[in-house]
Order: sequence, then structure tokens, then C-alpha cells
Amino acid sequence: MTLSIPDYIRAIEPYKPGKPLEELERECGIHDSVKLASNENPLGPSPKAIEAIREHLAKLHRYPDGGGFALTAKLAEKIGVSANTIVLGNGSDDVIGMLSRALLCPGDDALMPQPSFLMYAITVRSVGALPLFVPLNDALAVDLEAMLGRVTARTRLVFLCNPNNPTGTVVSTKALEAFLRDLPPAITVVLDEAYIEFVRDPACAMGLKFLDCGRPVVTLRTFSKTYGLAGLRVGYGIMPPELAAILHRIRQPFNASSLAQAGAAAALDDEAFLQRTIRLVHTGLDYLFEQLDRLGVRYFPTQSNFFLIDVQTDADVVFEQMLTQGVIVRSMRSYGYPHYIRINVGLPAENERFVTALGRVLKLT
Ligand SMILES: Cc1ncc(COP(=O)(O)O)c(C=O)c1O
Repeated sequence: MTLSIPDYIRAIEPYKPGKPLEELERECGIHDSVKLASNENPLGPSPKAIEAIREHLAKLHRYPDGGGFALTAKLAEKIGVSANTIVLGNGSDDVIGMLSRALLCPGDDALMPQPSFLMYAITVRSVGALPLFVPLNDALAVDLEAMLGRVTARTRLVFLCNPNNPTGTVVSTKALEAFLRDLPPAITVVLDEAYIEFVRDPACAMGLKFLDCGRPVVTLRTFSKTYGLAGLRVGYGIMPPELAAILHRIRQPFNASSLAQAGAAAALDDEAFLQRTIRLVHTGLDYLFEQLDRLGVRYFPTQSNFFLIDVQTDADVVFEQMLTQGVIVRSMRSYGYPHYIRINVGLPAENERFVTALGRVLKLT
């Protein structure tokens, strides 16, 4: 078959998500495995969201509210912004895609740290634009000065992942202020805050503070992590109303399903679940760091629900060997760290299983 596909589309490396639990268990002939590979919420979904979704099932013959009125209004009130700054998405991935489509022409470029969340580069390439990768500094943090140095006449967009996935480091308010002062004013800056609720460092920048700063700054948030709704697919961006109006023109008319809208709106009221999740992650991190110290394994501090571990050997091999122990981690080889794995915090029993399995695999116990 002859397919006429632009070269810039052919050049896109497919996004490789962590495999679904069931698939891995089938492949490896294991069961009762523990998945710590996709930064998900180990507590499951917000119970209030489940209840609201159940109640909505009988209305599935209707199209969703394409404007997402109720969820947008609720978010606006909760965050303290006006509703016309909010754009809902089929996950925040969807909003990342809309930003690339809205802001980039073929031949333009977009700056992003490396390594960082892989969808930035994929969406940039999908419109014929060029991702410009700026390596992290020695502390595995985003290097804003180096990013300024890479700006070209064709730069339209900057992606900052805060905290950065996969390293868990954050950009400070002070550093971001200096960056925005020196960056040409027409360049849109995106702060992807998928994990912002887990941050403990008071110096961490918050995108919302810059919503009215006179230049386009977009904050991305998601229900996938702290609210445990990754499978539901709902996220949103908060941005100047002029930019939001553009995104509304190009998004799919029903890009947030009715179940997603109902579940997300209910989850917003589930403050107890949110706090439980955050507490679980913080106590889990304290436990895991203590255990890794005990084993003498090097790891990197984090402001998120995941962190990197230096296994000092081939991370792909460690991934395979951990699988045989029923523990699914993420090898960081494809992110440019051939000796690091990334794990997210699980339930206490899952964390314990991870520590035991790692000790065995690295022959430390
Ligand atoms: C930094 C970052 N941004 C965005 C996303 C995508 O989130 P969503 O599930 O809302 O599409 C992820 C998911 O892992 C992520 O790590």
C-alpha cells in the first residue's frame, strides 16, 4: 500500500507507556504483581468519583456537555480563576496536543528539558515543528539559563514539567521569575503540574501565580494522579482567556466524556481522599528512602510521588529481574539513564515487596 505520510510524522518514535498489569502478568506467568511503573495512585480512584460515575451511567445515551460547564465552574471556583481561563482535556495529554497545534507552525521550535515527559516532543513533531532539547543540570533539575540560551527566532513554546517527570526536581519561583523576565514576551510558557500536589518544597514555583503576568503562561493539571482517575482521562489547562478561546476552537467538541466530567467534579469535593493520597506518598517516600539507605542503594530526592534509583547496572536487566519477583518498575534507559530505574510510591505492603525484591535482584540481602 502506498501511504503518503509527511517525513516529520514518520520520524515520530511511538510513546511507550508502562504495560498494563494484566498484559505483563500474562506474559511473565506471574500474578499478584505490584505495579510501581506509571506514577499512578495506589489507593485506587476517589470513592466520590466512583459514586458519581455510577449515577451517571443511565445517561450515557446523551452526548456530554461539550462546554464542560459544571466541571469548569467548579474548578474555577476552587482555584480562584474565571471560567474562561480553563480548557478541559481528555487527560492533560490532550491539552498538550492542543497547545502544540495552536501555537506551532511547521519549522517553528519548542524548548523542553531532557529528559522530561515524552508527550511534549511527540506533539511538537506531529505538527512539523522541532523539539529543542535542553539537558538537565547535574542535580537533574531543569536548567532555565541553558534554556534561555537555546531560544531561536522560531521558538514559540517552552514546556516546563514541574515537578519534572522522571527526575522529581522542581523549578523555584525565583528562578522562574528571572526566566520569564528574560524570555521574549510572545513565547508561551507551559508549566505541567501533573504532580504539584505532592510538592513539599515551599520554594517551588506555581504556574497560577503567573496567570496574569501579561505574557502567556499556561498551567496544566490532571485528575490522573492525586485523584486516582488515570483511566478516566481528564485534565485541564489554565491560561489567559485569549489563548483558551483559541484552544476551544481546535479541540474536539466532546473531548471530556460525561463520565469524566461527572467523576472529576465529584473528586474535587473529595478533600479527604486527596489528603490521604498525599500522606500515603509522603510516608511511603520516607520509608523507601530509609530502606534504600539501609541497603546502600543510591537514589535521588524527589518532590513527587516517584523517584529515580541508581541500580549501577543495566536498568533493563533489573526491570526484567524485578518482574520475575512480581514487581513492575520502569527502566530509564529510553530516557537516557541506562543505570536508573524509576518507581512510584505504592501501598505500604507494595513498598515492602519492592524493597525485598530489589535487595534480592541486586544481591544485597
Ligand atoms: C508530567 C506529566 N504530564 C502529563 C501527564 C499526562 O497526564 P494525563 O493522564 O492527564 O494525560 C503525565 C502522565 O504520566 C505526566 O507524567
